[in-house]
Amino acid sequence: MTKLIFIFIISAALMIVQGDDINATNHNGFPPQPPPHKDNSSTPIPPTLPPTTKPPTPEPTTKPPPPPPTTKPPTPPPTTQPPTPPPTTQPPTPPPTTKPPTPPPAPAPLPPKPVEPSQGSWEFNDTTNTNATCIKIHFAVQIVIPYLHKARNTTYNATVDIPPSAHVSGGDCVSDKSTESIEIQWMNANNATDNIKFQFVQNVTAKNYQLQEINLNITPDDVAFPGIEDKTPIILKHKSSDEFTTSLFKSYKCEKEQHLNLTDLSNNARGSIHISHLQLQAFGNATNNEFYSAIDCEPTSTPDVVPIAVGCALAILVIVVLVAYLIGRKRRQARGYLSM
Ligand SMILES: *[C@@H]1O[C@H](CO)[C@@H](O)[C@H](O)[C@H]1NC(C)=O
Ligand SMILES: *[C@@H]1O[C@H](CO)[C@@H](O)[C@H](O)[C@H]1NC(C)=O
Ligand SMILES: *[C@@H]1O[C@H](CO)[C@@H](O)[C@H](O)[C@H]1NC(C)=O
Ligand SMILES: *[C@@H]1O[C@H](CO)[C@@H](O)[C@H](O)[C@H]1NC(C)=O
Ligand SMILES: *[C@@H]1O[C@H](CO)[C@@H](O)[C@H](O)[C@H]1NC(C)=O
Ligand SMILES: *[C@@H]1O[C@H](CO)[C@@H](O)[C@H](O)[C@H]1NC(C)=O
Ligand SMILES: *[C@@H]1O[C@H](CO)[C@@H](O)[C@H](O)[C@H]1NC(C)=O
Ligand SMILES: *[C@@H]1O[C@H](CO)[C@@H](O)[C@H](O)[C@H]1NC(C)=O
Ligand SMILES: *[C@@H]1O[C@H](CO)[C@@H](O)[C@H](O)[C@H]1NC(C)=O
Ligand SMILES: *[C@@H]1O[C@H](CO)[C@@H](O)[C@H](O)[C@H]1NC(C)=O
Repeated sequence: MTKLIFIFIISAALMIVQGDDINATNHNGFPPQPPPHKDNSSTPIPPTLPPTTKPPTPEPTTKPPPPPPTTKPPTPPPTTQPPTPPPTTQPPTPPPTTKPPTPPPAPAPLPPKPVEPSQGSWEFNDTTNTNATCIKIHFAVQIVIPYLHKARNTTYNATVDIPPSAHVSGGDCVSDKSTESIEIQWMNANNATDNIKFQFVQNVTAKNYQLQEINLNITPDDVAFPGIEDKTPIILKHKSSDEFTTSLFKSYKCEKEQHLNLTDLSNNARGSIHISHLQLQAFGNATNNEFYSAIDCEPTSTPDVVPIAVGCALAILVIVVLVAYLIGRKRRQARGYLSM
C-alpha cells in the first residue's frame, strides 16, 4: 500500500517536472470541480409561462384600448407609438387580438426547498410530586408530509420543522407509571397551533425504556403547504418498534439523522419524521436538569481516521510535487546558462 502511494507520488512529481508548463493551476492534483449544478428543471413552471408572455404583445397592433399611450396624449396616430419595435418581430400575432384582457394566471407557488432544521431543547418536570425532570429531550426535527397541490395536480412534500421557540405545552409523568409523555407546541405561519407528542414506555423487568409512539397534529399553512385545498389538521402517528431503547437512568444519544415512518388515521403510510442531533431521557428522577450519561447509537465509531489519512497523503503529495518542480526548474535554468 505505502509502496503504491510512493510510486504514485513519484510519478506525479515526474510528470510535473517534465512539463515545461508554468500554468500549474491544472496540476495541483485535484480534479476540476464541476460547476454547481442548479436544477431548475424539476420545477414544472414552463407550462404556465408560455401563454402569459404572448397575450400582452397584441396591444400595439390596434390603437383603441391603449393604456400605455396615455403617457403621450399628443400622439393619437398609432404610427408614432414608442413600443413599435416589438410588433415588427411578431407580425403573425394579430389573431390573438380577440382576447387582449385575459390576465396571466399567477404561477402557483411550490413548497420551499427544505433546509437543515435547527436544534432545540425541551424538558418536562414532574411538578405534582418531586419537581424532578422526568423527560428531557434535545434534537432537530423535520417532518415531511406529502400533500396534493391542487393547481398543479401534483403531490409535493411539505416540510415542517419544530422551531427552537416551540414550548412544552403538556406532559404526563404520574398517571401511568409505565408510560411518560411530553407535548411540544408551536405556531405555524398562519398562527394556527401545531403540536407533537412523544410517549415513552418503560420495562421494569428489563430495566429499560424506549419510544412508544409519536403523535402529530399539523395544520397546513400557506408557506409549507402552498396550493393545498384541504386545510383541516393533518393527524399522523408513528408507532414505535423499540426505537431509542435505553437503560433506565441513562440517556439515548444519536447524532445521525434517523427517519421514522408516519401513518394517518386510516393507518395508511404518509410522510416521515427526521430526527437528528438527538439526546433524550425519560423516567428520570433527578432535579439538576442534566442528562444522565449517554448511550450512543453509534458506539466506538472512528470515522475521522480515513479523512485524516487522505488529507495527510494529499499534503505530502503537494509538497513533493512542489519541491520536485523547483529542483527541475533550477536544473533547466542551469542547462540554459550552459547552452548560452
Ligand atoms: C499558459 O496559458 C496561456 C493562456 O492560457 C497561454 O497563452 C500560454 O501559452 C501558456 N503557457 C505555456 C507555457 O503553455
Ligand atoms: C432557479 O434558478 C434561479 C437562478 O439560478 C434562482 O434564482 C431560482 O431560485 C431557482 N428556482 C428554483 C425553484 O430553484
Ligand atoms: C416544585 O417547585 C415549585 C416552584 O419552584 C415549588 O413551589 C414547589 O414547592 C416544589 N415542589 C416540590 C415537591 O418540591
Ligand atoms: C390529476 O391528475 C390525475 C393523474 O395524475 C388525473 O387522473 C386527474 O384527472 C387530474 N385531475 C385534474 C383535475 O386535472
Ligand atoms: C417526498 O419524500 C419522499 C420520502 O422522503 C420521497 O420518496 C419522494 O420522492 C418525495 N416526493 C417529492 C415530490 O419530492
Ligand atoms: C400572526 O400573529 C402575529 C402576531 O400576533 C401577527 O403579526 C401576524 O400578522 C399573524 N399572522 C397571520 C398570518 O395571521
Ligand atoms: C420486558 O422485558 C422482558 C425481558 O426482556 C420481556 O420478557 C418482557 O416481554 C418485556 N415486557 C414488555 C411489556 O415489553
Ligand atoms: C418506511 O417507509 C418506506 C417507504 O414508504 C419503506 O421503504 C420503509 O421500509 C419503511 N421503514 C420502516 C422502518 O417501516
Ligand atoms: C432515582 O431513582 C433511583 C432508582 O429508584 C434511586 O436509586 C435514586 O436515588 C433516585 N434519585 C433521586 C434523586 O431521587
Ligand atoms: C425543571 O426542573 C429543573 C430543575 O429540576 C429546572 O432547572 C428547569 O427549569 C425546570 N423546567 C421547567 C420547564 O420548569
